[in-house]
Amino acid sequence: MKKYKDIAGDGGSDIAGQVEAQQGKLARRLASVRHVVAVVSGKGGVGKSSLTANLACCFAGEGWSVGVLDADLNGPTMAKMLGVRGAKLALSNAGVEPPLTALGVRVMSMDLLLPSDATPLTWEAPTQAEAHTWRGAMEANALREFLADTRWGDLDLLLLDLPPGTDRLATIASLVPKLAGTVLVTIPSDVSQLVVRKSITVAGRAKAPILGLVENMAGLFPGPDARALAREAGIPFLGSVPFDPALAEAADRGEPFVALAPASPAARALVDIARAIRAALAPA
Ligand SMILES: Nc1ncnc2c1ncn2[C@@H]1O[C@H](COP(=O)(O)OP(=O)(O)OP(=O)(O)O)[C@@H](O)[C@H]1O
Ligand SMILES: [Mg+2]
Repeated sequence: MKKYKDIAGDGGSDIAGQVEAQQGKLARRLASVRHVVAVVSGKGGVGKSSLTANLACCFAGEGWSVGVLDADLNGPTMAKMLGVRGAKLALSNAGVEPPLTALGVRVMSMDLLLPSDATPLTWEAPTQAEAHTWRGAMEANALREFLADTRWGDLDLLLLDLPPGTDRLATIASLVPKLAGTVLVTIPSDVSQLVVRKSITVAGRAKAPILGLVENMAGLFPGPDARALAREAGIPFLGSVPFDPALAEAADRGEPFVALAPASPAARALVDIARAIRAALAPA
């Protein structure tokens, strides 16, 4: 099998030039964004998307202009959780206008581009074997274009909701020139912590600093203490969000839980976590 270095040129398609042009476009697009923060966890289903949606609402509630990019191209949930599913996208030469939530959060998700509920994103390749080989590269390119082609405008904060998988952060960190930091998410279980430890290693190697670890679904299982994990890993502990079925119900309705039930322990925890992130991003 040939390696990249054995291939002379790229048959005239100037892939390197195209990537460079797109990277330049991305840098220009992100020039009006103050902070880009990725919400990550190697582990699936721990609440990355729920935290992203609710943290976005907390920041918007405190007067920041906020955008959310659903970087989960295969299992997009941000449009649903933030209540903009089915929004018509306005396209122009300057890019795609992201729909606004009731709280003014700008959202872009693959879900807004796919034709129907049941249509998954597929990568075009002559055979499935080739699609498998190229998936990583195609995903990275799609994300780069997605970020660059969205008219984010002036933002204080752009949150990236990452899909599960410990390698995902490395891809994002290489794409986004000014990643301000990462927020790691775990739940109280050994299984989650086992994978999140790997994510902490990946995040430590990425260029962006680790803003801290969040424990989600606290109280649901009698699992290990996330605070201890953060201490052991030498990273800040940002807080614990209790398990609250009302949070899941609000997400399913596309309503901002933190605004619906601001006095609940889960909403208070989210507000405190958003403040801790804000302090880490822009120390007073
Ligand atoms: N603190 C919480 N209390 C109750 N339910 C929660 C809480 N956090 C998340 N959930 C629910 O758990 C489910 C999984 O959450 P979510 O989709 O946010 O996880 P995820 O980490 O983004 O998953 P994936 O890895 O598939 O992207 C959702 O139904 C969500 O509403
Ligand atoms: Mg998710």
